[in-house]
Amino acid sequence: MKRKPIDRNARAERKTIDRALSRLGLCSRTEAVEFVRAGRVRVNGLVVRDPERWVVPERDRIELDREQAKERAKLYVALHKPVGYVTTRSDPEGRKTVYDLLGDLGAWLAPVGRLDRDTSGLLLFTNDTDFAARLLEPTSHVAKRYRVEARGRIDDTEFERLRRGVELSDGRTLPARVALLRRSKERTLFELTITEGRNRQVRRMLEAIDSKVLKLARVAFGSLELADLAPGAHRELLARERNALRR
Ligand code: URA
Repeated sequence: MKRKPIDRNARAERKTIDRALSRLGLCSRTEAVEFVRAGRVRVNGLVVRDPERWVVPERDRIELDREQAKERAKLYVALHKPVGYVTTRSDPEGRKTVYDLLGDLGAWLAPVGRLDRDTSGLLLFTNDTDFAARLLEPTSHVAKRYRVEARGRIDDTEFERLRRGVELSDGRTLPARVALLRRSKERTLFELTITEGRNRQVRRMLEAIDSKVLKLARVAFGSLELADLAPGAHRELLARERNALRR
């Protein structure tokens, strides 16, 4: 019997169905798994129930809720998150979420990292999962700059500790940049630039030097500045801003 030649391109492009759906910009991988398990996804006319089913998106007809799953235009959005909003799609406690601020932009969007409920500032969203993954990769060391108002007077020795790295429960922090803006006996205002994205990192760094965050705002993410985007407002990134972040 004559063997069918191996289509090397097709092999290279095959993906599990959950990954294929999220790469098309339709949903997150977690949501894709749920959609598949709920029987909402068909491949070449047949319902699939296994999220790890291999597909070749260029060749197979993939449907979600009986509609062909087509690649969505990529969208990149910057939001000025105010304090009081949680970075999640839906909150079991019914608190306000960042999606309440974005409204319906006609596309599924995921945040690139998170900000605590009590943190304000620049938060990026996209449906470009590769772009987001690259920025969030721990080895990318994207610089995140925060404006910090902290309790008490932080002296230069403590600033030096923040610069060099402080010991946290999940390990020592990487070198950081510190720029003093103002200080008094009661408060210190400064900018802190870190290149990691650990949970509540800035708050924990301040606790490590026996201070406490009173106010925290992210003013830059990589090359992108919050600038004069009003609290609660969002805007699409310009092509040159996207390209700069890609670099
Ligand atoms: N560090 C924190 O402690 N909280 C944030 O929201 C962001 C960075």
